[in-house]
Amino acid sequence: MAIRPIIQPDNPVLRKKAHRVTTFDDKLQVLIDDMVETMLDAPGVGLAAPQVAVSQRLIVVRLGDDEDSKKEFGDQAGQLFVVANPEIIKRSKSTVEGIEACLSIPGYVGTVDRHEIVVITGLDRYGKPTRIKAKDWLARVFQHEIDHLDGQLYIDIATDVWKPEDREKTETPLPE
Ligand code: NI
Repeated sequence: MAIRPIIQPDNPVLRKKAHRVTTFDDKLQVLIDDMVETMLDAPGVGLAAPQVAVSQRLIVVRLGDDEDSKKEFGDQAGQLFVVANPEIIKRSKSTVEGIEACLSIPGYVGTVDRHEIVVITGLDRYGKPTRIKAKDWLARVFQHEIDHLDGQLYIDIATDVWKPEDREKTETPLPE
């Protein structure tokens, strides 16, 4: 495994619509392992392949497994999600505002309105169908990562973006 450089918006790959994953070969397994290592090292709670300059529809997500996360997310706390070609097939009408950050935009956070609950389908790392129901923070992370696959960044849809150092009281979330 290796830590790969995380690209920033000056690299056009981050703004491209990524290609569907079609081959679940050894090369893809290496990419997935590298993405997981890169995300954990950052540290962050999610990473999309375009963030490591690979234009493929692939995301990895892992929430923390601290006591608060376990209480809120149960088995989903600390669980590693690897999803190729993810699609949001259901969205709650209800939305919720929250603070997001992105590993590709270091030093900033922003307020983003997201669906409270989403259901995601896609393929796991071996190409087998997978389905995930996510709510609250996990739903937010998935929406953020899936946006990356279409070249969209949270700053495009945020109602406010700022540097946490300028507003000391803000609790800064782990970036995605
Ligand atoms: Ni991001």
